[in-house]
Amino acid sequence: MSDSRVDVLVWGPMHASLTQNLARDFNVHNLWELDALDSWLDEHGAKVRGVVTSGVYGTRIDVLERLPNLQVVSSFGVGYDALDIDYLAERKIPVSNTPDVLNNAVAETALALMLSVSRKIPQADRFVRDGAWLKGKFPLGNDLAGKTCGIVGLGKIGKTIATRAAAFDMKIAYYRRGEAYADVAYRHYGDLRALARDADHLVIIVPGGADTEHLIDRDVLKALGPKGLLINVARGSVVDEQALIAALQAGEIAGAGLDVFEDEPRVPAELIAMDNVVLTPHLGSGTYETRQAMADLVFANLAGFFKDGTLVTQV
Ligand code: GLV
Repeated sequence: MSDSRVDVLVWGPMHASLTQNLARDFNVHNLWELDALDSWLDEHGAKVRGVVTSGVYGTRIDVLERLPNLQVVSSFGVGYDALDIDYLAERKIPVSNTPDVLNNAVAETALALMLSVSRKIPQADRFVRDGAWLKGKFPLGNDLAGKTCGIVGLGKIGKTIATRAAAFDMKIAYYRRGEAYADVAYRHYGDLRALARDADHLVIIVPGGADTEHLIDRDVLKALGPKGLLINVARGSVVDEQALIAALQAGEIAGAGLDVFEDEPRVPAELIAMDNVVLTPHLGSGTYETRQAMADLVFANLAGFFKDGTLVTQV
């Protein structure tokens, strides 16, 4: 019996409910389970009309080239720097992502890192577990209240971070090349180093990709200064990781809270050895509620496209 369902190629393991929905309504092929990818593509590549991937899995042009009838790519995650967007645009293949539904979760991750670094929460937890409290006092931390939260990238997630940081009585400032946004009252800096100089927490939430690669370099870190903290919930590529390690080793900044890294899941041993950094495994949007909403949106995009040619959230 022939299967009339649309063939989709799924790039990597997905959220369970998305996997279930896909299996129900589509003829699913799991790329990571195909042991002879080359011959599979020869035989079946022309059937594939949809791709499901994520901002982490990305895409590969050599595979996309073997899908001549591909019509749509639905990606899990808001960032799409790992997808071959220009190539797909040339082929006029629309791409969707999952914006907005993860703003709160990522902003909460930023605040969690800001609090963790400034109050040394992971170290405090180890202090209690190791019995050190029985022998002495835990070092003091720093308030968030009264400090300046300098946001690099005041998009939707950046604005969500700003409202939460403001609720902690922080002053909010942001960097944007060129003009200030007309619709926000936060202090604008057209010069990234000037923002770093005035910020206590420099929070990175710009999209990844060539435009922002190593935007945070040694000079920006030096401007942040020996009391400054770097928080990165964007992409590892935005921060020059070697410069960050050097700046931390030289005491040019006070510490860092990092959810993303240049070569995930590999984290440099130098960072792992440091006590003034808090490291998390790219968990920005990683809550049950948010991942469910993202999974639903990936499916709604794909299903909507094959129903009436529209995407809910086209890139
Ligand atoms: C996560 O990093 C995302 O882009 O959604």
